Amino acid sequence: MANFSANYGNKITKMRFYSPYERWLTRRALLQALALLGVSTALPLGLGACSPARQLSRAREPEGLRSLLNTRQYFGVAVDARHLADTPYAAAIAKHANILVPENDLKWRVIQPQAGAFNFSAYQKLAAFAQENNQSMRGHTLVWHTGLPKWAEKILLHGGKAEVRSMLHAHLQETLQQTATLVHDWDVVNEAVSPHSRRKDFLRANSPWFKALGPDYITEAFSAVHSLNPTLTLTYNDYSMEYADAAGIRRRSGVLQLLQRLKQQGVPIHQLGLQSHLQCHRPLAGKAFTDFLRTVQQLGIKIIVTELDLNLAKLSGTDSERLNLGAHYAATYLKMIAEVQLLDTIICWGLSTPYSFMTKKDRSTLHPLPLDNNLAPLPLWHAVRSTFIESV
Ligand code: XIL
Repeated sequence: MANFSANYGNKITKMRFYSPYERWLTRRALLQALALLGVSTALPLGLGACSPARQLSRAREPEGLRSLLNTRQYFGVAVDARHLADTPYAAAIAKHANILVPENDLKWRVIQPQAGAFNFSAYQKLAAFAQENNQSMRGHTLVWHTGLPKWAEKILLHGGKAEVRSMLHAHLQETLQQTATLVHDWDVVNEAVSPHSRRKDFLRANSPWFKALGPDYITEAFSAVHSLNPTLTLTYNDYSMEYADAAGIRRRSGVLQLLQRLKQQGVPIHQLGLQSHLQCHRPLAGKAFTDFLRTVQQLGIKIIVTELDLNLAKLSGTDSERLNLGAHYAATYLKMIAEVQLLDTIICWGLSTPYSFMTKKDRSTLHPLPLDNNLAPLPLWHAVRSTFIESV
């Protein structure tokens, strides 16, 4: 609970505001159990009958999330340079985030659309914005099965290993050099594991990188990045490790096997990025998830949240109820991570609803990020805020 000053006409009034997250606390044990058990979220929980976040937005401007962070905490947002043309949105990013991630502007297709013809202009716009606003940056992403230009895909699928290695090396060299000033942490390999894989190690065998170089492409990528710049923090980034279902079990198994193998081989790897595109109708894995995180941590690998957003498409209830349930789901999830290790980095995949990558695909349903269409805080904003406040 916090004290806020609200300006009603000429009168400055002090009021006590119960954040949506605080309202959930009383129901927390019940809801946590429900989330963990995956009990239908259509239960008449009576949450958020009137949307407190919307009332709040009318009453006052939200404080900047970054102003609540200590010097080792990072709240980040994924953004494309072209999003900055939306001035109020850019101002909200400057106000809330102390770290930026190029949502697309450092992907192969953007920075090397033609072989050898590099283009970092979009990234440079983001970097200038970050510098102006005293923000740091993360790099995303160097080796991914998608986001590739046609010419690179062609080499991966039809070129020889030597040609592939030389293409990879040239891309890494140029990219790391161009971004060296601001980017000290890279998603080196993204989404290498798939629960649909027929392999025991669950590696995504239909990735063009796997097809070109076999399973060792991951080792090669991490080692190459490290030898080009040994000061970088190197991250393996993947999604859907948090669910109780069979796909979640397979994904955790695949990621763990991969991380264990990399560590055994002495490959430099420092972080696991949990993307956290939370599908709030899927039961969370509970202990199986925290056990997984603990094993990762015991390997000496730090855990960060890299792409948080909520998918409420399969929840029922009013918008307000779904927003609250989604935020509660996120708070439960973030708390599980924070129980295992200090959670100092949470990055959302966009800051406000219209910029959700899921909204682009499907406008018919709610895809919340921390802020709504009017840049007012949604319950997810409060869940992230509370997680930071509690994890110090
Ligand atoms: C997405 C972007 O948000 C979209 O704009 C783009 O069209 C496709 O890629 N996991 C990732 C991100 O690691 O790179 C993806 O970003 C979202 C899922």
